[in-house]
Amino acid sequence: MENLLEVKNLNVSFLMGKRKIHILKDVSFNIEKNEVLAVIGETGCGKSVTGSAILHLLPENAEVGGSIKYNGIDITNIHENEFRPYRGTEIAAVPQSPSTSLDPLMKVGKQVSECVTDKKYKYGEHKKQLKESIINIFSKLKLPRINEIYDDYPCELSGGMNQRILISMGIVTKPKLLIVDEPTKAIDWALRKEVIEVFQDLKKERRCAMLFITHDIAAAKCVADRIAVMYCGQIVEIGYTNDVLNNPKHPYTKGLIASMPSRGFHVMEGYMPSFADLPIGCRFEPRCSEKTDNCSKYEPQMINIKNGYVKCFRFKL
Ligand SMILES: Nc1ncnc2c1ncn2[C@@H]1O[C@H](COP(=O)(O)OP(=O)(O)O)[C@@H](O)[C@H]1O
Ligand SMILES: [Mg+2]
Repeated sequence: MENLLEVKNLNVSFLMGKRKIHILKDVSFNIEKNEVLAVIGETGCGKSVTGSAILHLLPENAEVGGSIKYNGIDITNIHENEFRPYRGTEIAAVPQSPSTSLDPLMKVGKQVSECVTDKKYKYGEHKKQLKESIINIFSKLKLPRINEIYDDYPCELSGGMNQRILISMGIVTKPKLLIVDEPTKAIDWALRKEVIEVFQDLKKERRCAMLFITHDIAAAKCVADRIAVMYCGQIVEIGYTNDVLNNPKHPYTKGLIASMPSRGFHVMEGYMPSFADLPIGCRFEPRCSEKTDNCSKYEPQMINIKNGYVKCFRFKL
């Protein structure tokens, strides 16, 4: 299969006054055409920074190293003018939450249409075509009253419907790569199930590849072809969803899975270290129950295992 996205040794740091804090270190993964890769890991590990780096949405104080290739073209540090043609039509994002991403004073249909920046869709026949394609998306996302809700305001829709409006905003430009950041965060149980189903349907249709960022492992299980596990700014394991969830290799992955409600809710002890004070060796060593002497002294390399990678001394080249 062809790679749509290739991220290699991505490093991101932020300048904070006179100090530079390194957040992502040598993050590498790829996404094939039509593939869904989930990035899982606890809050603060660097998932959103990874998505923002790909989308060129990092703030001014960020420094990006390594390479991000889209369709073989290096887009890592290209100027905003050069990146603009990619935004929306090639790579798009689903905004995070209805309360912060939807304008309460604008009709939802118009909000979705505004994601299409090509001016020709503002007038006449093209404008009509765009409206039809948005109504078509509403129908695919199983929104009710698809013709009327185009002219509804967010407050007239339920939470689940507004979540689907956000998803429509991500897919209206027919991107080849969709970046979805925590679609199930801060929503209740019933709504979470609905949102997961929407992404499962999108995947079935195979309209685009996805980087599915989540701390919700059960959601990743339902949607992803492969899973990358991130800990403290580094990827520690990548593999097929079933392999990672049923036969985790890295001690951190094992801990994450054991903490799932369906696997007994065994919460992992300890905390992720601060990015300003990182361990010298393996970043997970202070919390690891399988550590050896080497782990606090040296950093393990990413090892190629069958159908995946793991960054742990217990695995050898
Ligand atoms: N603009 C920024 N300036 C400084 N630090 C940042 C910035 N954005 C994110 N960070 C830091 O990067 C780390 C990873 O954040 P993030 O990617 O949002 O985590 P996650 O999405 O996994 O919860 C956090 O420690 C966060 O405070
Ligand atoms: Mg995040």
